[in-house]
Amino acid sequence: MNILVTGGAGYIGSHTVVELMNAGHNPIIADDLSNAHYSAVDRIGKITGKVPTFYKVNCACKAQLRHVFSQHKIDAVIHFAAFKAVGESVKKPLEYYRNNLDSTMTLLEVMEEFGCKKLVFSSSATVYGPNNPHPYKEEMPAIQSSSPYGWTKVMNERILTDYCTAHPDFSAVLLRYFNPIGAHESGLLGDDPNGIPNNLMPYIGRVAAGQLEKLTIFGGDYETPDGTCQRDYLHVVDLAVGHLKALEYAAEHNGVEAINLGTGNGISVLELVNAFQKVNGIKLPYVVGPRRDGDLPAFWADATKAKQLLGWEATHTVEDMCRSSWNFAKKGV
Ligand code: UD1
Repeated sequence: MNILVTGGAGYIGSHTVVELMNAGHNPIIADDLSNAHYSAVDRIGKITGKVPTFYKVNCACKAQLRHVFSQHKIDAVIHFAAFKAVGESVKKPLEYYRNNLDSTMTLLEVMEEFGCKKLVFSSSATVYGPNNPHPYKEEMPAIQSSSPYGWTKVMNERILTDYCTAHPDFSAVLLRYFNPIGAHESGLLGDDPNGIPNNLMPYIGRVAAGQLEKLTIFGGDYETPDGTCQRDYLHVVDLAVGHLKALEYAAEHNGVEAINLGTGNGISVLELVNAFQKVNGIKLPYVVGPRRDGDLPAFWADATKAKQLLGWEATHTVEDMCRSSWNFAKKGV
């Protein structure tokens, strides 16, 4: 299938493009490179033996998207392209709403023009908000979030759900990711944010590489077994494979389906730090500091639905995630 991958040069997008190519699909990347580098496309070429087709395109620009659809018969779309920094979204809400909502609506309009009816959407566990008990199940209310970034996921899910109601022959799979970490085994693709990282694993990588002095663990007094927050960390390659399975599902079903992609296990910050140190033989300087505003103490996925509907299950261990993250991060030293 010809698959348009918006945001395909980014962290999760690039890993997904590799899995699509390995499975014999023809991915076409549309990325405006606002938070990614073209080098990721070349690196995909190094891994797979073929450089994927690339367009520098902003998905909120209808003319640019139309051009891509006019050049290829697109069978399905995986839509990653979005701003994703939680803290930045609090400071720049309008930019987040404008970009993340416009791009989806423009994409849907152009898909409709060209008769493309299959979409996999990059959503987040953040849509479960602060009030649901964990593990999170898809049937729980997913109508609240704690940042403008998260609200754009809630709103995009709503837009896609309403669109599917109005177009019963359309298929949208909303993939609710938990905490993706890890990197491609080649060490060529990984999470490499601009500036000082906000997320835990890229921050750990920079500390391990000596580029940052120490990690601050945000809060050691939560009501969790070791006092630090628990999350459902999953390997980005497992996540990428989940997109492939979702695409196969979308090809055979109509309507909207929200599906969690997580391991189903909660791991604490301290457990992750210890696993990283042990598996990589590295001493990681850290201190336990105050809580970060907006962090929830603990959440993880109920991953049953992904297994039942997609036949998908995470296969990589926490050790795999820590080893591959460091294998990627140390190349930046
Ligand atoms: C957040 C977003 C999620 C988004 C994800 C990846 C929310 C509620 N969650 O998840 O939607 O998909 O980022 O972009 O908005 N930590 C430290 N020290 C650090 C950094 C993090 O202790 O320097 C801790 C945090 O307190 C948290 C855990 O590590 O307990 C994971 O944090 P992070 O990687 O930022 O992801 P989330 O906040 O869980």
